Amino acid sequence: MSPPHEGGPQAPSPRADPGTRDWVISGVRPYGGAPTDLLLRDGVIAGAGRDLAAPGASRLDAAGLVALPGLVDLHTHLREPGREDAETVQTGTRAAALGGYTAVFAMANTEPVADTAGVVEQVWRLGRQAGLADVQPVGAVTVGLAGERLAELGAMADSAARVRVFSDDGRCVADPALMRRALEYVKAFGGVIAQHAEEPRLTEGAQLNEGVVSAQLGLVGWPAAAEEAIIARDALLAGHVGSRLHVCHVSTAGSVEILRWAKARGVRVTAEVTPHHLLLTDDLATGYDPLFKVNPPLRTADDVAALRAGLADGTIDCVATDHAPHAMEDKETEWGAARPGMLGLETALSVVVEAMVHTGLLDWRGVAMRMSAAPARIGSLAGHGAAIEPGAPANLVLLDPDTSWTVDPGSLASRSRNTPYAHRELPARVVATFLRGEPTVLDGKAQR
Ligand code: DOR
Ligand code: ZN
Repeated sequence: MSPPHEGGPQAPSPRADPGTRDWVISGVRPYGGAPTDLLLRDGVIAGAGRDLAAPGASRLDAAGLVALPGLVDLHTHLREPGREDAETVQTGTRAAALGGYTAVFAMANTEPVADTAGVVEQVWRLGRQAGLADVQPVGAVTVGLAGERLAELGAMADSAARVRVFSDDGRCVADPALMRRALEYVKAFGGVIAQHAEEPRLTEGAQLNEGVVSAQLGLVGWPAAAEEAIIARDALLAGHVGSRLHVCHVSTAGSVEILRWAKARGVRVTAEVTPHHLLLTDDLATGYDPLFKVNPPLRTADDVAALRAGLADGTIDCVATDHAPHAMEDKETEWGAARPGMLGLETALSVVVEAMVHTGLLDWRGVAMRMSAAPARIGSLAGHGAAIEPGAPANLVLLDPDTSWTVDPGSLASRSRNTPYAHRELPARVVATFLRGEPTVLDGKAQR
């Protein structure tokens, strides 16, 4: 096998077709700072300053809006190929653009599983065709997510999709010897293993967080220790072999402690937290509404507080949505039969504003770091996550920080409806998203 390319995936080069317009975004506040104008030309930020003149450019009056670098989601389920009734690359990336994202990493638990160069290239091409956000496929760690044999990691890394993130998400790579080999293998091309940390023997039949609420309801719970045991094990393995480990959707206070310990020891470990684990708690399960069933489960208020603190102090590197669309028949059923998972792309920024900005835990630069720069760096994704300054790719989200909106599941762009925020009022709203200088969202509406 030939050695895979060095370095991560490259964003497609800026479109230089003659139809590309220049844009002047006037009076916008980068990172919530002083108002300025931004000139977008040929896919990059070509200028910044007061009263920019650019004859022929389209103007967007952005007075009062905050500009952040286009958001990057390390953990999205787009469901294509296989479950196009739940989501497609087109509908999922439209939801992403409306949420302020310019790039998403598409998880591998599709049908067929993204465990070959062929499938990851297919997903990557569908993303390019849709043109709403860059789609960077995640490759499976094991064939068919079965946890028995390593998938063609090198061939996926060497494919047109240039895969750098590998995950069996939805399932844990439970076999420690296989996990060690996967960690060692991806070192050759700067890859990372993203682990869904769940000890399977400790979570057989689990329905929600193991604790007071599960005891009241008489349901089998996911104990926190099932997550923490795998994170501790994998941190030790990653440290031993000198490889990069990423921990998906951290959900317990104990996990934050273990990550803090591992980072202090110099282990190359990064971690993500979902918006829903920053805001929602397990007592929502008492109504048996499967909209609140998710894996890992919603935990306790103490866990939420520890996750917020861990995200604020950098122990948790980034926010990732775990956007998990499910068709009606898989979700609108009794709790035990319902699939776990929640929509996330269109509400993520608003939920982070409520949980982290309005609580004083993060400022706008902190949000940009955790929702754009850090995920782009962890996923080795070039062309995303750069600071807003001349010369940077014109990937931007403009948001109104002073408004609020009520989530109407029927109005979401996702093909599925399983949002846990239905009829809830959330702060801040995405007004526009630019992908390489072209608007994918304007005035809160998708452009494709
Ligand atoms: O709740 C979840 N849903 N957790 C996962 O790990 C997988 C995801 C899905 O694919 O629906
Ligand atoms: Zn997962």
